[in-house]
Amino acid sequence: MNLSTTYLGLELKNPIMCGACPLGTNVDMIRQLEDAGISGIVLPSLFEEEIQHAVRALMEMEAAGPSSAEASSYLPDPEGYHVGPNEYLELITKAKEATSIPIIASLNGATAGGWTKYAEKMVAAGADALELNVYLLPFGAEETGASVEERTIEIVRAVKEAVNVPVAVKLSPFFSSLANMSKKLVDAGADGLVLFNRFYQPDIDIEELDVVPNLRLSTSEELRLRLRWLAILSGQIETSLSATGGAHTAVDVIKSIMAGAHTVQMVSALLIHGADHVGRCLEALEFWMKEHDYDSIDKMLGSMNLTKTPNPEAIGRANYMKVLDSWNE
Ligand SMILES: Cc1cc2nc3c(=O)[nH]c(=O)nc-3n(C[C@H](O)[C@H](O)[C@H](O)COP(=O)(O)O)c2cc1C
Repeated sequence: MNLSTTYLGLELKNPIMCGACPLGTNVDMIRQLEDAGISGIVLPSLFEEEIQHAVRALMEMEAAGPSSAEASSYLPDPEGYHVGPNEYLELITKAKEATSIPIIASLNGATAGGWTKYAEKMVAAGADALELNVYLLPFGAEETGASVEERTIEIVRAVKEAVNVPVAVKLSPFFSSLANMSKKLVDAGADGLVLFNRFYQPDIDIEELDVVPNLRLSTSEELRLRLRWLAILSGQIETSLSATGGAHTAVDVIKSIMAGAHTVQMVSALLIHGADHVGRCLEALEFWMKEHDYDSIDKMLGSMNLTKTPNPEAIGRANYMKVLDSWNE
């Protein structure tokens, strides 16, 4: 049975990766995940704000004189589970030394600026590839969709210029023409697309009259949005595709691959069930493939995408009418 797959030009032993999350902040945990079977890991994001904060701190120290500048290895304490820029580079190097799986560093930002140069340091520290999460929430009523797209593309270009390793872009599902935007990103140099970024929506506390962030883990229900767009993009745009959001089981992995994903990133499922969940999913994946006469991931890849499915209307608008009709069946 050949479970191997190629993602961003990297040869992976199977399609199940660990997505960006707190599990990737600890090298022992990364090793446990590797032992359990994951084929690659995306480290948690280093944020544009963290890089800018660290750079400002460094400039202030240098301006204060030579003795402070000597302490330039000092960078601000990490907030929450996130680590500061220096610690992040150490994490990459340690993870590379301790494991033999590809280590993908993640950068998260919203503006094209000097911070994107940090990508270079990530690669020097050993990152095999980068995942770029452009978390951009356009508030202003004056900003057009075209301008939001251009801002995103500019960031991708800047990161690509800084590094010579593959760069995947973690996409928002909220572009008005997602297929066109995906094509533009690939034309701008993106080596892969990760579907989709999960926006954590704030809630309102009606007693405290406060807006409160609250993080809910996903369920398999969220996978459907990914499946539809994987199926639409796969076969239409030549690039690596990865699914993130709602992959909890071997069945979810199989669906994602059939829709066109080269890899499937798990986070919530691993946070809920622990690293051993990967081994159970891989076993179930292999069992299912044997039962259904698939001897490789390649044979399943994209087999249900828009160009290959026997029922392409079910992916498009006709599906909407059918779904509504099915309510009383
Ligand atoms: C606690 C937590 C922390 C996360 N941190 C990051 C992050 O730093 N960068 C990022 O791009 N995504 C981050 N994510 C999003 C995940 O990488 C993933 O895309 C999302 O959880 C959907 O996948 P899932 O359904 O398997 O959980 C985080 C998710 C969780 C639950």
